[in-house]
Amino acid sequence: MIPWISIRDAAAYAGRHVELRGWIINQRDSGRIKFMLIRDGSGTMQATIWSKDPDFPLFQTFARLTQESSLKVRGTIQADPRAPGGFELQVDHLEPVHIAPEYPIARKSHGTAFLMKHRHLWLRSQRQTAILRIRAAIIRAIRDFMDSRGFVLTDAPILTGNAAEGTTTLFETKYFGESAYLSQSGQLYAEATAMALGKVYTFGPTFRAEKSKTRRHLIEFWMMEPEWAFAELSDVIDLSEHLLAAVVARVLDKHREDLKILERDTAPLEKIVPPFPRITYDEAFELLKASGESDTPYGEDLGGTDETIVSKSFDRPLAITHYPADIKAFYMQPDAADPKKVLCVDVIAPEGYGEIIGGSQRIHDLELLEQKIREHGLSEEVFQWYLDLRRFGSVPHSGFGLGIERTVAWICKLPHIRESIPFPRMLYNLYP
Ligand code: 4AD
Ligand code: MG
Repeated sequence: MIPWISIRDAAAYAGRHVELRGWIINQRDSGRIKFMLIRDGSGTMQATIWSKDPDFPLFQTFARLTQESSLKVRGTIQADPRAPGGFELQVDHLEPVHIAPEYPIARKSHGTAFLMKHRHLWLRSQRQTAILRIRAAIIRAIRDFMDSRGFVLTDAPILTGNAAEGTTTLFETKYFGESAYLSQSGQLYAEATAMALGKVYTFGPTFRAEKSKTRRHLIEFWMMEPEWAFAELSDVIDLSEHLLAAVVARVLDKHREDLKILERDTAPLEKIVPPFPRITYDEAFELLKASGESDTPYGEDLGGTDETIVSKSFDRPLAITHYPADIKAFYMQPDAADPKKVLCVDVIAPEGYGEIIGGSQRIHDLELLEQKIREHGLSEEVFQWYLDLRRFGSVPHSGFGLGIERTVAWICKLPHIRESIPFPRMLYNLYP
């Protein structure tokens, strides 16, 4: 039996006869020697066909191949310092699976609009596959970290009967004669499961009908949301630090090659080690004013540019706490020392990537929560189940949401969030 191997594992098969299955990236004819660059999803490898005989049958097969044709090849893995990756395959068997007609994405560079329209094919590029592998590694690292800390995964519904994060970005849909909304956050449900299991997290797609067209916003994005009974704000800030450090360490440990493909300078990532700096909204505001670069009035939310200005002087993720209650969600616990502020945290990624985490301590007092629901113009009726959590064994509890795509964009240092997810959903962008 000839082993069918992944290119990633080639080194372990040096000198052995193997089979590769993949697609042609490009090919080159140098007379007696034909070169193919093959990708199989795990990596790319140069394959060569050599013969003194111009009528060598494999040469005819080679001549039919085109960019993105699929094939099976067999040959011997040889160490070759000149070959990309240090190994090449010396081919003795070449079997096309499908000959592709002219491929729309040529090797010349295309504009973003064209690439987005061909996202289903663009994903095959070396750069996009590196990002997708890192995204998968980040998700796995998050799960491993949360599981190892004793948090239980409890999935939240996507179709919901009430808003979680304000009504302006709600996606409404019909639900058998009623209105339903696509989930903006799994948090409220995580609060319920936290009262059952103590430490939980949700991990799933969330939706915001954001009218903003920025390099940080998606309409559909994935969020991991821990919720922790009896925990206070500082407990979840600690948790977020260790989580981010573990995720970055995993990518550095396992995905150096992919970071190299992305030309990602890893020096800033090596610095992502706790403790991270923590400042209050008021302190952030001082930094903002001192910069002279922002005219955001005190009391308003920090915009993306404000976050970049404030975080510029830090080389690690920056936790900003104690925002004004007026600009935050209804469920956040007021600060006892200054009830106009809430016990919340936004974690701002370094290198200008903005907010990657938003979290808070939650109101656990029934009457206060009822009052906040009214003040925010929300329906008390649809929140009865949520209020029940404050009626039966209510405890202080805290949690946060980590945006996966913003985390991927930061770690990979992508210029735009659209490359951080296989099929981004953005304003006016639903196809493919
Ligand atoms: O700050 P947000 O809105 O917080 C919540 O939804 C809370 N309910 C989370 C919780 O406490 N359980 O969103 C959390 C994170 C942001 O920090 C950001 O990383 C990401 O979700 N996010 C977005 N990512 C991409 N596109 C958007 N439109 C996003 N909106 C939020
Ligand atoms: Mg937020």
